[in-house]
Amino acid sequence: MRIEPIHRLVGHLAVPGDKSISHRSVLLGALCDGETRIGGFGRSADTEATIEAMRALGVVVEELDVDTLRVSGVGLRGLSAPAAPIDCRNAGTLVRLLTGVLAGQAGQRFELTGDESLSARPMRRVTEPLGRMGAVFETDDGHLPMVVEGRPLQGIAYELPVASAQVKSAILLAGLYAEGETTVVEPVPTRDHTELMLEAAGARITRRPTSATVWPAERLELGQVEVPGDFSSAAPFVVAATLVPGSELHLHGVNLNPRRTGLLEILSRMGANVTVYNRRRIAGEPAGDLEVRSSDLVATTVTAKEVPLAIDELPLFALAASCAHGDSVLRGAEELRAKESDRIEATADALRALGQHVRATEDGFRIRGVPARPRGGRIESRGDHRIAMLAAVAALGSQQGVEIGGAECVAVSFPGFFEIVESLRREAAE
Ligand code: S3P
Repeated sequence: MRIEPIHRLVGHLAVPGDKSISHRSVLLGALCDGETRIGGFGRSADTEATIEAMRALGVVVEELDVDTLRVSGVGLRGLSAPAAPIDCRNAGTLVRLLTGVLAGQAGQRFELTGDESLSARPMRRVTEPLGRMGAVFETDDGHLPMVVEGRPLQGIAYELPVASAQVKSAILLAGLYAEGETTVVEPVPTRDHTELMLEAAGARITRRPTSATVWPAERLELGQVEVPGDFSSAAPFVVAATLVPGSELHLHGVNLNPRRTGLLEILSRMGANVTVYNRRRIAGEPAGDLEVRSSDLVATTVTAKEVPLAIDELPLFALAASCAHGDSVLRGAEELRAKESDRIEATADALRALGQHVRATEDGFRIRGVPARPRGGRIESRGDHRIAMLAAVAALGSQQGVEIGGAECVAVSFPGFFEIVESLRREAAE
């Protein structure tokens, strides 16, 4: 796939439903008593893997429309283990959260598999705490394929060694089945969609800035979930409109949970021109519309505390910083090495291939900003959807365009991404 430069980004866009919230709505909907109707569902390869996984566990999930689902909940203890392994494909959120749920299905045994990328990602971070709660696991040296034996669980107080919303969520979900209370303490705050949805479903949960405690639940009920637009899918367009002069782009109905919008904070101190309007709540989550105008950027430093709040947007930060005045640094982001690809190496290689000055460090990047359009070139996605979208954003702002190898992996989170890029090109031409 080849993406040519664009001379401006203008118009109005809506992005698909949030991936994190979409996964959680199907998973939790399955554990509810009664039906859950999900509107604005973010359909993607990842969230379809969650639908298929819940179907394999005996849950009826009906697709009423492209983005509307009806999940017929089987209750907290109504899942039944399939004979065949459950394929989690590329979805880290699915495998980690589902493991927490399956750990509590006492007396049942489940097998989880995934694609090559997911099979290379660490699972010990969930099996270790869930094992302490009483579940039994077999893994391939901490990796998929994994067998989960559900057991009667004991509540724990667990300090996360790495800031991870997926691990926190797995433990909290297991806590619904545990005797006594389960507390997760995080080194720095991470996204809290699980806590918000558990609250909405009637679970007993208390929250402090860096911890959450859950108590065993008898029944859950969600009823209706309206999924707001995915900030992580809006972010490529926010960065593109910031970098391409003459842009004025509106993004509507975007989730603005402060534990997701770290990139906006970072860009704003770099001098970006992003205004939030129509602030509202969608499904108990803060949301709003964004207006992005292009702007010159200055360098900044991003440290560990901000990392979880912008985790999936850090490759885009590196691109923005490489086009800013001055030298930028990202530290405390070693978690990027455990994503769908090693995103420290993948991002640095991708941006260097376009002539940008980005150096990988153990836990982030060192970036020498040059306030000019990147030259252009060829970027390999490495099968990582966020790298493919990074390449496309860089292409829009480049001098000569970018050839993207393996661009089709955008379907993991955002199947309509390139159609939106093309619609922006038509708008720009008008
Ligand atoms: C997610 C949490 C983050 C993020 C991932 C989605 C979630 O992963 O990178 O894309 O939905 O909880 P970690 O919790 O492993 O950092």
